[in-house]
Amino acid sequence: MSELVYLDHAATAFPKAPGVAAAMSRFLEQEAGNPGRGGHRLAVAAARRIETVRAAAAGLLGCAPERLFFGPGATYWLNALLNGWLPPGGRVLVSALEHNAVMRPLRHLERRLGLEVEVLAGEPGGALDPSTVRRATRARSTDLVVIAHASNVSGLVQPVEEIARAIAPVPLLVDGAQAAGARPFAFDDSAVAAYVTSAHKGLLGPPGLGLLLLAEGRRLSPLLRGGTGSHSESEEMPEAWPDALEAGTPNAVGIAGLGAALEWIEGQGLETLSRRSSSLVCEVRERLGEVPGLRLHGLRPVDEAVAIVAFTVEGEDSGELAAWLDRNWGLALRAGLHCAPAAHRCLGTFPAGTLRASFGPLATAADARRLVEALVARLEDRHR
Ligand code: ALA
Repeated sequence: MSELVYLDHAATAFPKAPGVAAAMSRFLEQEAGNPGRGGHRLAVAAARRIETVRAAAAGLLGCAPERLFFGPGATYWLNALLNGWLPPGGRVLVSALEHNAVMRPLRHLERRLGLEVEVLAGEPGGALDPSTVRRATRARSTDLVVIAHASNVSGLVQPVEEIARAIAPVPLLVDGAQAAGARPFAFDDSAVAAYVTSAHKGLLGPPGLGLLLLAEGRRLSPLLRGGTGSHSESEEMPEAWPDALEAGTPNAVGIAGLGAALEWIEGQGLETLSRRSSSLVCEVRERLGEVPGLRLHGLRPVDEAVAIVAFTVEGEDSGELAAWLDRNWGLALRAGLHCAPAAHRCLGTFPAGTLRASFGPLATAADARRLVEALVARLEDRHR
């Protein structure tokens, strides 16, 4: 079997940042008490670890640490916000590129609460202009706008800072699962009401951990209630943050792993990492653009996209081609609809889907060349 060339960073980062596995193992061996539950040294060490990582994550994402929360994943926080912020009969606007982590809870709430869910078409490819979003929010009373910062299908990055300012006081919820760590972003300068992301993609940490950033003045009632280690005399949830939103024993081992990833990202510089993967994408797009029979989808200038190349090959099923690339070339890409049927409808690639190559900061020029070489070989074979 050929050596693995991992080009599925948009599904989850691999490898994780150097130091992540060691930090997780060190935490389990040396610090794995239950944070806030007890005053002994292990409970204290675990609590300290969590607060150190909270501060580091807040630093990277430009948010005050007291408004950054940990939970089981980005999907969890999106559900919490949509359930917490949308009133019965309310109106919510979404981009045409949303992932099912947004669309499925919304479709559920549409039935349960009689919500009005309106999809903003935007330009071909789904790009949104802030003034169009503003007009849509002013057309009728609007409770919330939800926008994926970067599309997991095409990589397109939406101008969320400008949109947030244009639609104020209507709140903007940003799904940053594909953008955080892929490009610099300062939450507290952005006017975005809530930003959600996961630890395991651009932030190069482990799975099972999501981050919520709340703007000053915003509140959220918890999706889950339970033990917090604080106010144990009461059967009601405490109101103080972060406990109010962090019921249950936290994923402290995941948080320790994220801490190591953030340290590595900080050391390398996010701009440098982002430039590195963008330059690979440029090269791959250029080369694949010249391959007859291969079609690139949702192309944007690299500074308006994260490092994703979406393509189809004429007459080929994307799933079968992905399996062939894996078997014969060791290339790991994700084919199909990427849990985002809305985005594929927008790009005109529903229901067949696309093949997606997504590059992390540890991908190399040799990885990019191998993908191009494999696809050229596949197409040449067909013409023989
Ligand atoms: N949402 C992830 C992806 O795009 C899993 O592959």
